Amino acid sequence: MVIPSVSLSHGELTLRPIHMRDARPLERELMLNRSWLRQWEATNPGTFNHLDTKAAVRSLLSYGRSGGGLPLVMVVEGQIVGQINVSGITYGSLSSASIGYWVAERFAGRGLTTIAVALVTDYCMRVLGLHRIEICIRPENSASLRVVQKLGYRFEGRRDRYIHINGDWRDHDCFALCVEDLPDGLLTRYLTGKTNTP
Ligand SMILES: CC(C)(COP(=O)(O)OP(=O)(O)OC[C@H]1O[C@@H](n2cnc3c(N)ncnc32)[C@H](O)[C@@H]1OP(=O)(O)O)[C@@H](O)C(=O)NCCC(=O)NCCS
Repeated sequence: MVIPSVSLSHGELTLRPIHMRDARPLERELMLNRSWLRQWEATNPGTFNHLDTKAAVRSLLSYGRSGGGLPLVMVVEGQIVGQINVSGITYGSLSSASIGYWVAERFAGRGLTTIAVALVTDYCMRVLGLHRIEICIRPENSASLRVVQKLGYRFEGRRDRYIHINGDWRDHDCFALCVEDLPDGLLTRYLTGKTNTP
């Protein structure tokens, strides 16, 4: 399925598809935020993982064109402040996908990623017709765990040594929501405070 061009926004935040011309500003942010991001970054086992933003954007675009992913950038006041990517999009009897994200350190704590995840979850369910969205997080990543807690994503369990992150296979906690959980959508549920947060 070809995914329609998407632009999602709420308040100061806009999410739009990544472009090749974003490679340079993205690389600047990734360099600036090296120590902030490194410990949570996916790596390829057995290879030297050097930063090649152009290749990374090219690969995201090609994956997006195949229909398997939806690579978006987070924009505030015209500036790229992070990324949110949908991957593993499948239809039919699974109809599911995963979400991953990061934001620049100087924009952390403004609720941007929490709003971005709500917007993207709603888009995947309401426009793409997906049934279940999953987010997997290292148990040490308290900031990311807060994002799913605030949104009421349900804890499903621990996957041992699940994803190669920062040079080794790391355990991840898996969280998910299904379309039946969200009769009015996730953004509305979050903004109206109906999410149960611990
Ligand atoms: C996880 C992350 C995306 C959250 O983004 P965000 O836009 O700051 O999200 P929110 O503003 O909703 O804040 C979420 C939590 O982060 C924590 N936080 C806020 N500001 C922070 C800061 N400056 N430094 C560290 N943690 C902070 C708080 O616990 C906050 O929860 P709260 O709202 O209950 O206080 C961001 O911390 C990040 O990019 N981290 C590095 C990459 C990463 O971990 N990606 C996710 C991998 S699963």
